[in-house]
Amino acid sequence: MIRSALMNVMTAAALKAGRGLKRDFGEVENLQVSVKGPGDFVSAADKRAEKVLYEELVKARPGYGFVLEESGEIEGPDKSHTWIIDPLDGTTNFLHGLPIFAISIGLQREGQLVAGLVYNPATDDMIIAEKGQGAYLNNRRLRVAARRDMGEALIGCGIPHIGKADGHARFRAEFDAVMGKAGNIRRLGSAALDLCFVAAGNYDGFWERDLQSWDMAAGIVIVREAGGYVTDADGGADMLAKGSICAGNDAIHRALLGLVKQP
Ligand code: IPD
Ligand code: CA
Ligand code: CA
Repeated sequence: MIRSALMNVMTAAALKAGRGLKRDFGEVENLQVSVKGPGDFVSAADKRAEKVLYEELVKARPGYGFVLEESGEIEGPDKSHTWIIDPLDGTTNFLHGLPIFAISIGLQREGQLVAGLVYNPATDDMIIAEKGQGAYLNNRRLRVAARRDMGEALIGCGIPHIGKADGHARFRAEFDAVMGKAGNIRRLGSAALDLCFVAAGNYDGFWERDLQSWDMAAGIVIVREAGGYVTDADGGADMLAKGSICAGNDAIHRALLGLVKQP
């Protein structure tokens, strides 16, 4: 287990924001049956969680900058540290009452990702990693899967929603290529958790395009610290700038990249 001051700060903030999300998730069920649906309520829940995370982290580490999904960039006097935060990853799942969503907090130091936390308040799964210190799910050390045969691999992916229709044709081509070689494919709807499923060896690999830095920052550290390989979906090293990701153990990462990468 990682017992650093930094991780204490991150877990305390996530647990506090997570309490609110858990309560709000309980409410969503009641709102499903209304004609208007829970949309506005969920977006308010999302913003509330982000406010708690911001307040807790700025109190504990005054000066660090922020990249927040809902509030955008907030610069701090300390230019070497930036929190990269998604207060609710898996909004569609949350909205539909599916317990696959998470808070995601990544920390960049001098431009390098050094710590990551992904917390699912519905299951109480807390996944943490710090550079050089391993990745943990609650108290269990995580390792990526050892499977090397693509034909036996379970691969996770992300499907572009209706608002991202310009990505549909490319996704179909990639899906076809992976479906022809992989054991099977899943789409669970939270990129942050998807990366944790790679780290925990549930998935053998994962790829997705058209992501934002806050969907991936924490998960990247977690996969690496679990012994996994991460690049963007075309094999480059700057996932955050490119907005895409491919992850797995060395063999599955290489094979998956060969199927999805663009020349
Ligand atoms: C989304 C989730 C989803 C991915 C989308 C993201 P959100 O984040 O990570 O799995 O496919 O591209 O936007 O909107 O739920 O925070
Ligand atoms: Ca997200
Ligand atoms: Ca989000």
